[in-house]
Amino acid sequence: MGDRALAMGTFFFDERLIDDEQGRIDNEVNAFTPHDCADRSFVTSRLDVKCRCLMELDFMTKESQPSGPDLTSGVALTQFVDGKLLGHVGEEEVLLVQDGSEIFAIAAHCSHYHGPLNEGLMVGGTIRCPWHHACFDLRSGDAVRAPALAPLDCWQVEKRDNLVFVREKRVGLIQRGKPPTSAPEKIVIVGGGAAGFAAAEMLRRREFRGSIVMLSSDSSAPVDRPNLSKDYLAGSAPEDWVPLRPDSYYNEAGIELRLNSEVVSINARHVTTGKGDQVAFDRLLLATGAEPVRLSIPGADQPHVRTLRSLTDCRAIIDTSKTSPRALIIGASFIGLEVAAALRARDIEVHVVAPEKRPMERILGPDVGNFIRALHEEHGVIFHLEDTVTAINGQRATLKSGRTLDAGLVVAGIGVRPRLALAEKAGLVIDRGVQVNAFLETSATGIYAAGDIARWPDPHSGERIRVEHWVVAQRQGQTAAINMMGMREKFAAVPFFWSQHYDVPINYVGHAEQWDEIAIDGNIRARDCLLKYKRKGRVLAVASIFRDLASLQAEVQMEDEMIQSV
Ligand SMILES: Cc1cc2nc3c(=O)[nH]c(=O)nc-3n(C[C@H](O)[C@H](O)[C@H](O)COP(=O)(O)OP(=O)(O)OC[C@H]3O[C@@H](n4cnc5c(N)ncnc54)[C@H](O)[C@@H]3O)c2cc1C
Ligand code: FES
Repeated sequence: MGDRALAMGTFFFDERLIDDEQGRIDNEVNAFTPHDCADRSFVTSRLDVKCRCLMELDFMTKESQPSGPDLTSGVALTQFVDGKLLGHVGEEEVLLVQDGSEIFAIAAHCSHYHGPLNEGLMVGGTIRCPWHHACFDLRSGDAVRAPALAPLDCWQVEKRDNLVFVREKRVGLIQRGKPPTSAPEKIVIVGGGAAGFAAAEMLRRREFRGSIVMLSSDSSAPVDRPNLSKDYLAGSAPEDWVPLRPDSYYNEAGIELRLNSEVVSINARHVTTGKGDQVAFDRLLLATGAEPVRLSIPGADQPHVRTLRSLTDCRAIIDTSKTSPRALIIGASFIGLEVAAALRARDIEVHVVAPEKRPMERILGPDVGNFIRALHEEHGVIFHLEDTVTAINGQRATLKSGRTLDAGLVVAGIGVRPRLALAEKAGLVIDRGVQVNAFLETSATGIYAAGDIARWPDPHSGERIRVEHWVVAQRQGQTAAINMMGMREKFAAVPFFWSQHYDVPINYVGHAEQWDEIAIDGNIRARDCLLKYKRKGRVLAVASIFRDLASLQAEVQMEDEMIQSV
């Protein structure tokens, strides 16, 4: 979860937060004052949460009101700014949105991590969240695009005498339509991660009435995996933020979730698990994700040398960190550096060893690479770049340069490999991933693939691509679910990912494996920038820091280009 995700805590801002988190909030209160919250530059990421905590505490203790006018008393259209007006109904923050001649009243915060929708972008009857680009239908509140999966509350609006009044909450707005009569009876999902969970959830959301069996080799129910290298690892997110849904959800939704169930083979119409169970399917989704590349150096098999993919991995790193004042991170890309930031929050001395000249240069270019390095150094991370670890003997790591570093915890973040063994064994067409068509169907009819394993024809780049992004995996799971029910929807979402380093979020839309120019607007060091990655003058991808609206606009622009090119 991005540090911004700490805002999710406000969903749970209740007695428990007051009791259990009082110490943490006290510290935050000591460091910040409500006055700080008025300053937009402070209201970002973790600070945003601190401010929210303060404001919530302030609200609870001084019986103050949430921000903006009381919308039940009526507001004038002239008060709207860029078609939006933030106010409240009782204690709930509500956003009024003007779309043409219509006015909608929706919850002011995104159902993903509580992003501020008043800073979002309205596009064709929807609003997109500025933080991680979730998209909601204004009319019904439905979460039409991941990463948000839950709808927004909506209120009745009345226009009278040039004033807009917000009335009661509206219910039953979401019309799903029925699945086609040709919908299959049995759907099996292999994988309990981003794509697998989003598929199961979408099947039930679209009222699929057949059986859903989700087989996962994980020991825990689907988790918010991005959180594992961010706030949960840093110790600032409580345990119950990590599951995507509480355990009770699966029974209630009629999703048979079988954990510790590794699928080892696929036959004509059933899969077989390592325990010998056979599960029949009419449609099958493969969403086996990726696994971390392991170190192949002497000493890599010691218990304090870890990788990070699952909740179990994360807990093991946390346990080891408790007795290790110094950690060594091998690899300076997203996971490695997010882990570095999280461990610094635990006051652990962190060294990063990586072969490249600059962190993340391959994806984001040299200027962002320099910035990221400086940012981590400001937080005390010690880099050993253009170097590699050649052996780990007990707690002593030897580098190619001849240096040695002592560390009680080693985390290797040297990349991931898609988990293709099952698809390969089943004879599916493989092309550095499982090859799928625009409908996410593999070379075998009725077998679909989504997420980190899938290589699909991306209409924006015009290339077959495979990416390792949370939001893409979820959206592919959703599209695959719709197609498994018998509909025909192309997967055409522009790729999006985010990464979080301390209080600095990086958003990225599009896909640029290679570029010949990076156009920088703004100032990277000032954390206010938009970078366009171009090839032959065409913008392939856009990275941004605190330019959320521009990032959303870039996404829409790329979507428009796709529509025009069809
Ligand atoms: C620590 C961490 C932080 C991340 N942070 C971000 C981020 O900030 N932003 C971002 O965009 N992306 C992030 N990612 C990447 C993102 O999490 C992945 O792209 C996404 O999870 C891929 O979804 P998936 O469903 O393809 O695979 P996964 O979520 O990995 O799920 C795969 C599932 O398949 C199961 N499985 C595998 N093989 C079998 C089998 N044979 N039988 C049964 N089950 C099987 C696994 O146990 C797992 O449950 C992060 C990844 C990690 C590890
Ligand atoms: S907070 Fe809205 S998409 Fe994440």
